[in-house]
Order: sequence, then structure tokens, then C-alpha cells
Amino acid sequence: MKKYKLFVACDTTSLTKIKKILDQTKKIDLVIGYKFGLEFLNSKNGRNFVKKLKNKVTFGDYKFCDIPNTCVSALKAVKDLNFNYITIHLSSGLDALKAVKKIAGGTKIVGVSVLTSLNNKSLSEIGYKKNLKSLVIHQASLAKKANLDAIVCSPKEVRDVRKIFKKEIITPGIRLNKSVHDQKRVMTPKEAYKNGSDWIVVGRPITKGNIKNNIKKLIDNLN
Ligand code: C5P
Repeated sequence: MKKYKLFVACDTTSLTKIKKILDQTKKIDLVIGYKFGLEFLNSKNGRNFVKKLKNKVTFGDYKFCDIPNTCVSALKAVKDLNFNYITIHLSSGLDALKAVKKIAGGTKIVGVSVLTSLNNKSLSEIGYKKNLKSLVIHQASLAKKANLDAIVCSPKEVRDVRKIFKKEIITPGIRLNKSVHDQKRVMTPKEAYKNGSDWIVVGRPITKGNIKNNIKKLIDNLN
């Protein structure tokens, strides 16, 4: 049977907490990757910890969003961490996406479409004229043009994105119950995989509280 793939979002500044997350997600029957984002990577010990991490699938969720030269320089600056995946906002523009992809080497470049914490109302507040679905589809075509390796969207858009973008689709916005926190476009793990997500990204529903119990609930949801 195909193994489901899960990125655990390691959002904390505490090394003790990170070690606990790694330890308690070791022996589970899923393909596991670890996503480190702005919180951990900007913390005092975050960078060194990731640098020493061996034999794990790692995801540097830097969400670069800047001019091409700065994105390229930032990617070069973290090359020594050997991330398997690194993110850039698709709204950085085609030139920045292409420039980053060109120097990425073995690191997969992941284009982030509309954040899962946004909905149509948030988009019109920002000033976008397109509705959410059209904007995500449009951005997926940008990811394809730049030959990126993966895209981040919500599980709700996976079917539409898949028509355009044939590589990996990674979906945060995963919830098992009504506790959605700041996320707006959410689905359960089962729904996300059914829609065709290659990887789901789960943070708080796993890392807050009892990690082993939370994982068990997640796996139960898949059956
Ligand atoms: O705790 P939760 O499951 O909401 O965590 C989701 C993770 O995915 C966070 O680390 C967040 O930064 C990241 N993310 C997201 N939406 C995106 C891209 C990344 O929630 N569009």
C-alpha cells in the first residue's frame, strides 16, 4: 500500500520541544518529513540544530518573497543546511522563481500560493481582484513556467492545481476538528489525500498536547 506522507511543522523556539517531536514521530507508519519555519530557523539554536540533523527529510519553510537577487543570495546563504525542500512565495514573481530554481542544485524549490490563513475576504482586503480559486490556479501556472518542484496550496484547491501542475503538491490547512486556529481553508487528512495531496503539513494538531495520541488520531482518521 502507498504510504501517506506527512511533514510535521516544527514551530517552536525550544530545542527540547523539537527533540521531543522528532523522538515521538519516529516509529510511525507514515513517511515523515520535518518542516522548520520562520520561528525555529530564526531562533538562537535553530540553524545549528538543522545543520547537524542527519537522515531526515527536511523542509526549510523560509517563504522567500523578495527581489530575484535577494532570493538567490538568501538561498545560497542556507545551502550548508542541505534542505530537501525550500519555499518561495509565488508572488515573488516569475523572474525570482526562475532565478532561485536555477541555482537550487539538489534542493526542491516549493512555490507557496495563497496562504491557507486567507480567504476571499482577506484577498480583497489586500487588493487582489481575482477570487481565491482563480488566483491559486493562476499561480500554479507560474510555478509550472518556472519549472518549480512543488507547490503549496490548501487541500481545497488540489484537484484544480493538479490539472496544471504535475509535480508535488503539499498542503497545510489540515485539521481533525473544529479547532482551526488561524487557518481558514482547512480539510481533514483523509480529505486532503483523497483530493490528491502528495504531502500534508500538520503543526499544532500534532505538536500541541500529547504528540503520540495526536498522531494516533490522525492515523485513525485515515482508516
Ligand atoms: O499548526 P498548523 O498545522 O496550522 O501549521 C501549518 C504550518 O504550515 C505552519 O508552519 C505554517 O507556517 C505553514 N504554512 C501554512 N500555509 C501555507 C504555507 C505554510 O499554514 N500556505
